[in-house]
Amino acid sequence: MSIILIGYRGSGKTTLGRALAERIGWPFVDLDHVITDRAGLSIREIFQQHGEPHFRRLETEHLLESLKLTNHVLSLGGGAVLAEQNRRAIKDAGHPVIYLRADAEELHRRIQADPATAAQRPGLTHLGGNAEEIRQLLALREPVYQQVKTMELHVAGRAVAKLVDELQHAMGGFPLSPGSAGVDPRKAGG
Ligand code: S3P
Repeated sequence: MSIILIGYRGSGKTTLGRALAERIGWPFVDLDHVITDRAGLSIREIFQQHGEPHFRRLETEHLLESLKLTNHVLSLGGGAVLAEQNRRAIKDAGHPVIYLRADAEELHRRIQADPATAAQRPGLTHLGGNAEEIRQLLALREPVYQQVKTMELHVAGRAVAKLVDELQHAMGGFPLSPGSAGVDPRKAGG
């Protein structure tokens, strides 16, 4: 089993993923970083030189590969759950999927404040990544995140360490030793 983090840009998947991985002693994998490392280009450059559909193909390819990992914390890009093929693969892999949830205003603030935004977050519509784009895309994506998640965490105004505590608690003191009687993380409510 691995743990998968999903959510819109700026929801803190990478930060929380790293902190969780450190806490439970599992390696952390950020799917966007796998894509950019292998391509030798930033996401903005991939979008500019090859177009978004090419980025989405790479995303699917590396997602399918990463889903085979066990005992990893895996953070997905904000759009990785949009393709039906990806959603099916995530579901079939059976890992717990944690949705990091925040409203559009909070996400906009965080995206603006993040130095990684310029290279990692090219605009996704003609609106160029502004607050209105976030509102529109979040409205479309929210039901998809809800469909894929097995648990959700509200991230606004909450310290990373507290979120890691909550996640660990919800998973019954995860990681569980083999055969121990804890909550099945896939069924942990949210
Ligand atoms: C995207 C989110 C980004 C990155 C790419 C596309 C999206 O990842 O995969 O810019 O469609 O929301 P983060 O969610 O890690 O910023």
